[in-house]
Amino acid sequence: MKTTISKVNEHLNEEVKMGAWLSNKRSSGKIAFLQLRDGTGFIQGVVVKAAVSEEVFNLAKSLTQESSVYVTGTIVEDTRSPFGYEMQVTDLELIHESVDFPITPKEHGTEFLMDHRHLWLRSKRQHAVMKIRNEIIRATYEFYNKEGFIKIDPPILTGSAAEGTTELFHTQYFDEEAYLSQSGQLYMEAAAMAFGKVFSFGPTFRAEKSKTRRHLIEFWMIEPEMAFMEHEESLQVQEQYVSYLAQSVVENCALELDILERDVDKLKQIQAPFPRITYDEAVELLKDKGFDDIEWGEDFGSPHETAIAESFDKPVFITHYPKDIKAFYMKPDPTNEAVVLCADLIAPEGYGEIIGGSQRIDDLDLMKQRYEEHNLSGDAYQWYLELRQYGSVPHAGFGLGLERTVAWFSGVEHVRETIPFPRLLNRLYP
Ligand code: 4AD
Ligand code: MG
Repeated sequence: MKTTISKVNEHLNEEVKMGAWLSNKRSSGKIAFLQLRDGTGFIQGVVVKAAVSEEVFNLAKSLTQESSVYVTGTIVEDTRSPFGYEMQVTDLELIHESVDFPITPKEHGTEFLMDHRHLWLRSKRQHAVMKIRNEIIRATYEFYNKEGFIKIDPPILTGSAAEGTTELFHTQYFDEEAYLSQSGQLYMEAAAMAFGKVFSFGPTFRAEKSKTRRHLIEFWMIEPEMAFMEHEESLQVQEQYVSYLAQSVVENCALELDILERDVDKLKQIQAPFPRITYDEAVELLKDKGFDDIEWGEDFGSPHETAIAESFDKPVFITHYPKDIKAFYMKPDPTNEAVVLCADLIAPEGYGEIIGGSQRIDDLDLMKQRYEEHNLSGDAYQWYLELRQYGSVPHAGFGLGLERTVAWFSGVEHVRETIPFPRLLNRLYP
């Protein structure tokens, strides 16, 4: 019976066969312990000399790291294994011998591991992180489908900049100039006017010269957009969504969180509602915490965000930023036109801004005025203005950065480990 490691629980005390790679091995004269992985999980195979042919035992003893095999054996319970099972091997067939696998069980430097990302992905730790990433994606679709949103795919090649023109990747589109999408938002606004509640999930690109643990050049964003929704209602969707993600990961990724030694109690605390503070209050809080040089009107950097987050045991919304440090499309607060109806959601434990969102300007004249202030003239944006011309409605939306969320839930320090093949400043390989 052929099976996978993830399904061995269905074959207790039965003999099964599976394809696997050898991730590690210990052996003595009479017994060999093979650490096997097949992509679905990890299991130990025990090869007892007296129980197998001489050929099989010799093969087990000489097997090199990352060689591929077909292994046959009986599945038994093993309470010492975090996985709960082991295999008593009866037969072993070599598929391919791996010679000198570069990533050995000893410690390696980050640059070395990044150069071997295509092989590093095979490690238990990377496996755990990617499973958590997958769970967040799965739970995202589940959440939005339950809430009546429609998945809409905005284009990747675009003629309009959503988040300012300085960080665009330029490319040639026949005889026109085009960019790689920084955000699907503008298109999602059009989609919201057509379908009401929509969400996107796709890659976005930013030519940011930032080399921090939170910045990727190519990252994936989930962008919901909702017609007939005001600022505060959008915050409620955000806190419900993030809580849903956290609780899904706690429930479905116990093994992975254990491998990563994540403090699960911290994740269990991620339950709506989340605290909200205004930008003004955040500035006061920072001054109290000794950031004397912060002035009203300045944007917050990572140290500021981390300091603010430290005052809360849940993620915190910072709302009502000054309009001059935020995007052109954000709606001014009717009670104070110097600030906009926006919020950044800041994660605890120093993971930084997870979500950026806002209510959008729905007035045509005001949007035209913002266009001029931001030098966004030209035909490329005409369609976006037209959304305010034909049945304009209050609407709001937000973008959640997938990799920062994966880093936060997994407890990994740097976003480079949260995407299979990270694109970083100066790194396009592998
Ligand atoms: O705050 P941002 O720039 O917002 C937007 O792009 C809006 N158009 C979203 C919307 O309203 N539909 O980006 C949203 C989120 C950030 O909060 C952060 O989590 C993530 O995207 N993000 C990055 N993640 C990794 N690397 C980068 N360089 C990132 N830039 C933003
Ligand atoms: Mg932002």
